Amino acid sequence: MALTKMPLHVAIIMDGNGRWAKRKFFPRTAGHKAGIKSVRQTIEFAVEKKIPYLTLFAFGRENWQRPKEEVDTLMDLFTKVLVDELPMLKDNNVKLVVVGDKSRLSNAVLSNIEIAEVATKANTGLMLNIAIDYSGQWEIVEAAKEIAKSVLANKMQIDQLDENRFVDFLQPTIQQPVDLLIRTSGEQRVSNFMIWQLAYAELYFCKKLWPDFRKNDFQAALDDYQLRKRRFGKTEDQL
Ligand code: IPE
Ligand code: IPE
Ligand code: MG
Repeated sequence: MALTKMPLHVAIIMDGNGRWAKRKFFPRTAGHKAGIKSVRQTIEFAVEKKIPYLTLFAFGRENWQRPKEEVDTLMDLFTKVLVDELPMLKDNNVKLVVVGDKSRLSNAVLSNIEIAEVATKANTGLMLNIAIDYSGQWEIVEAAKEIAKSVLANKMQIDQLDENRFVDFLQPTIQQPVDLLIRTSGEQRVSNFMIWQLAYAELYFCKKLWPDFRKNDFQAALDDYQLRKRRFGKTEDQL
């Protein structure tokens, strides 16, 4: 299908790694490892299609509640992937930023985040956000704290606050509204992902488990997006 309507910002909840592994009688962590290929394909596809912003949900604040062994494996995987995939990001002119609460991450993860962010800082192509120890509610609470500080420091008046101004206090690289949210694995929920930015997003639920997600599945989501009528509160005739 010809893509006449392109989303500016695509967000993906990469779900179903555990179930993928379970079906193959592998440990859950094998599913996380297998999901890396899908991440690579997704980034390459976004680059090919010249999508400006891509945000991937890799680890939510609620995910710390998982068994320690699984959390440790995920953190080791993030540490390794940030190094392994850096050449691919550079080759594709991708700018990478990790969004989320950095205070609970290990030094190993943090230093590789820093290396990857610095190495891709000047890139001008796809803006890739990876959300780690992130939740939408956390982001909004952080914004509220910053706003309170600004008011207390007399840098802004409470009455100046509106929806536009509020956005300035969200995490810098994900302030762009999400146009298309994709969630794999058949679950139909937002799970505390970018709840502010999703306000008017088109939602697309894909039955495939994340490790099976390929470029053609991303294409199918974009095809479906072509059929959506985005009214933003207006009537059809007004568009
Ligand atoms: C998504 O897959 C990856 C993370 C949350 C880190 P899951 O691990 O949630 O896989 P399921 O939902 O248990 O199948
Ligand atoms: C959401 O997946 C978070 C990520 C994909 C990183 P979960 O699989 O943890 O979500 P719930 O808890 O089933 O909603
Ligand atoms: Mg899940």
